[in-house]
Amino acid sequence: MESSAGKKRILLLYYSFSSQTNNLVQTLVTGLEEYRVEVFRERLIPLEQLRFPIGTISGTMSMMVETFFRKRMPILPLSPQCFENYDLIILAGPTWSYNPSGPILFLINRDGNKLFPGQEVLPLISCRGYWRLHAWGLKRLLQKCGARVGNFIVFSHPSIEPWRTIGVFLKLAGKIPEKRSWLRKKYRKYGHSRKQLEEAERFGRMIGREMSEDDGDIQSLDFNTPLSRP
Ligand SMILES: Cc1cc2nc3c(=O)[nH]c(=O)nc-3n(C[C@H](O)[C@H](O)[C@H](O)COP(=O)(O)O)c2cc1C
Repeated sequence: MESSAGKKRILLLYYSFSSQTNNLVQTLVTGLEEYRVEVFRERLIPLEQLRFPIGTISGTMSMMVETFFRKRMPILPLSPQCFENYDLIILAGPTWSYNPSGPILFLINRDGNKLFPGQEVLPLISCRGYWRLHAWGLKRLLQKCGARVGNFIVFSHPSIEPWRTIGVFLKLAGKIPEKRSWLRKKYRKYGHSRKQLEEAERFGRMIGREMSEDDGDIQSLDFNTPLSRP
């Protein structure tokens, strides 16, 4: 499956609503590209554009309810390169109400049987902090399509509870939590920290190094990090 230049090939499929997965993906790729690997990156684009922030409390609540019931969100067709042969697929996206996000669920339904059979898949999850059910459900869905899933990368927001949950909710509702006098000391920033982005870059280097070796084994890599709250 090596490219004509003898490099291992990685497909990076990702969805990001509020740029957090996107930020992790950018630095991960920076790390990956230090090694002899070829990366094809494709962002999933919903057919109906979703605006961030959602902007209202009622809109945020209804999105949370819909996503709790695993609403699929239709996406534009993937580019033809996604269906070529790869040595590894990294599938990155946020947790939505304990589930994979709507665009990722739609992707698996529509294209899963073409993309994943016999394929090594490494999921990357960006979340506020509650990712276990998401990881378990995603692994099952991918395995049903014939994928091998032996490892995960998970980054949760570093703020502490309950401010983290309150902060994410207000942010989605367009209420700018970082500027509220009663909250801003406990909740300085929405999303991932600079250190976590650097950690994603380090993970990119780990994957790149492993893939550039003949007998590289992604499943053996340790992506546990003190920079992500369990
Ligand atoms: C509708 C919705 C539901 C969410 N539900 C969860 C959840 O169940 N658990 C969690 O840890 N984070 C949850 N989050 C927070 C996101 O996973 C988190 O902000 C993530 O970093 C966003 O990544 P993105 O900017 O790439 O979309 C939810 C966000 C949205 C929009």
